[in-house]
Amino acid sequence: MASIPFSALFLSIILQMALLWSIGSSQKTGFTSIDCGSDSDYTEIQWVPDNKLMSEGTSVVLPDTSIDLVLSTMRLFNGSQSKYCYSLSNSAVTAGAFFLVRASIYPGKNPPYTPKNPDGYFHFRMLIDADMWGDVKILSGDGIWWAYDAYVRAKHSKIDVCFARITPDGDAPFVSGLTLRPLPDTLTSTALMTEKNCFLVCLGHKNYGVPLSGPSWIRFPNDTLDRYWISHEVPDSKLTSTQEAIDRTADSLDQLPERIFQTSLTGSRDFTLNWSTLGNDSVHYVVFRFSEIDPLVNTSGMRVFSIFANGVLLTTEGPIDVFARVGANAAYSFGKTVTLDAGSNITFTFTSLVSSTFPAFVAAAEVFELREIGALSPPSINKYPKYLK
Ligand SMILES: *[C@@H]1O[C@H](CO)[C@@H](O)[C@H](O)[C@H]1NC(C)=O
Ligand SMILES: *[C@@H]1O[C@H](CO)[C@@H](O)[C@H](O)[C@H]1NC(C)=O
Ligand SMILES: *[C@@H]1O[C@H](CO)[C@@H](O)[C@H](O)[C@H]1NC(C)=O
Ligand SMILES: *[C@@H]1O[C@H](CO)[C@@H](O)[C@H](O)[C@H]1NC(C)=O
Ligand SMILES: *[C@@H]1O[C@H](CO)[C@@H](O)[C@H](O)[C@H]1NC(C)=O
Ligand SMILES: *[C@@H]1O[C@H](CO)[C@@H](O)[C@H](O)[C@H]1NC(C)=O
Repeated sequence: MASIPFSALFLSIILQMALLWSIGSSQKTGFTSIDCGSDSDYTEIQWVPDNKLMSEGTSVVLPDTSIDLVLSTMRLFNGSQSKYCYSLSNSAVTAGAFFLVRASIYPGKNPPYTPKNPDGYFHFRMLIDADMWGDVKILSGDGIWWAYDAYVRAKHSKIDVCFARITPDGDAPFVSGLTLRPLPDTLTSTALMTEKNCFLVCLGHKNYGVPLSGPSWIRFPNDTLDRYWISHEVPDSKLTSTQEAIDRTADSLDQLPERIFQTSLTGSRDFTLNWSTLGNDSVHYVVFRFSEIDPLVNTSGMRVFSIFANGVLLTTEGPIDVFARVGANAAYSFGKTVTLDAGSNITFTFTSLVSSTFPAFVAAAEVFELREIGALSPPSINKYPKYLK
């Protein structure tokens, strides 16, 4: 049984420098891109330095050479305040509007200080408005750029993103970049946020079955919402791909890039996708993306499979037959909430039905953790049941 590990959303910066730059050159309404620790207002891109937004902390220039300018500076909050907050705002930030908030954290190969914990990891805390976002745990000096994404709903005309030590003598937090991207309220994920009165911590947007030749990721402008689709690259024997256009009308609300549907992971009748480093005892939302791109599959019943999460059937409404639902070269999504009973990992198992002549496949997957939020303003408390304990 083939098995694919999944780690939380992280990006290796070594391969992909030009792409971070490209985002800044587009001035799109509601996009804010802050280069933390920087005081240089470079003209060629629309990243703004944080020196007018943040008076606390220390600007640190990393000794690392040949890295992206945005990652070459960080703001280190090594004072004794209980937390340090950026107030993000732009013309699109109004009460109730949805945003993707991304914190880019890059300690560099020669970090400015050593983690206090003997495990060699930096540990600090991030909050959005007054709500717990998550605890950062990143290895010192491994040269990986970590991108933390959350889907949030503005409570006012600003969104506060805060950094804090976990204990008074814990590691000082730091951050290299902060970005804000507007999200429509019609996405499957933002509709879920409205329904459950929660915010979402993104655990990854994964593009499965990409050739070894890449691309290693897809983002804006190909993804109009600037989600990062990280490629899972496999040899040609494990993928199917097409150059044909994909009809995305059935899935148009989620505004997915066409490219992710043009390649799929397949090859074995059964395979697993392991997602780890998830929160304990919490509710997750997973959505899988498919498109029947193999011209040999030209009728219903030829590729039919079930999906299990930690051994429990997820496709309880019946097995997935993409051709039967939407035909060839058309986008199809399957989303479900998943509760972790024990531990903090989910193993998704894809299993073809015995009658299926073709193996299971998947084009992409997204996993989110549902998180409780305080009341929106004006108060709509009690309108929706609290979803989490
Ligand atoms: C993924 O999970 C399956 C089932 O628990 C396990 O057999 C497999 O070893 C795991 N693979 C990895 C790479 O962790
Ligand atoms: C914070 O870090 C900077 C740079 O390393 C250092 O100059 C400064 O003294 C530190 N401040 C505190 C309060 O430790
Ligand atoms: C992104 O879009 C451009 C323009 O449509 C296209 O040329 C390019 O190949 C796309 N990149 C990816 C990775 O899909
Ligand atoms: C899960 O809970 C255990 C025990 O309470 C704790 O040690 C562990 O750090 C938690 N893991 C996560 C990812 O929160
Ligand atoms: C499907 O493809 C096979 C092989 O190319 C062909 O024989 C068959 O007629 C096709 N079926 C349909 C419904 O198009
Ligand atoms: C979760 O997955 C990680 C990484 O694959 C592994 O190290 C850890 O042991 C797993 N935890 C459980 C409870 O299975």
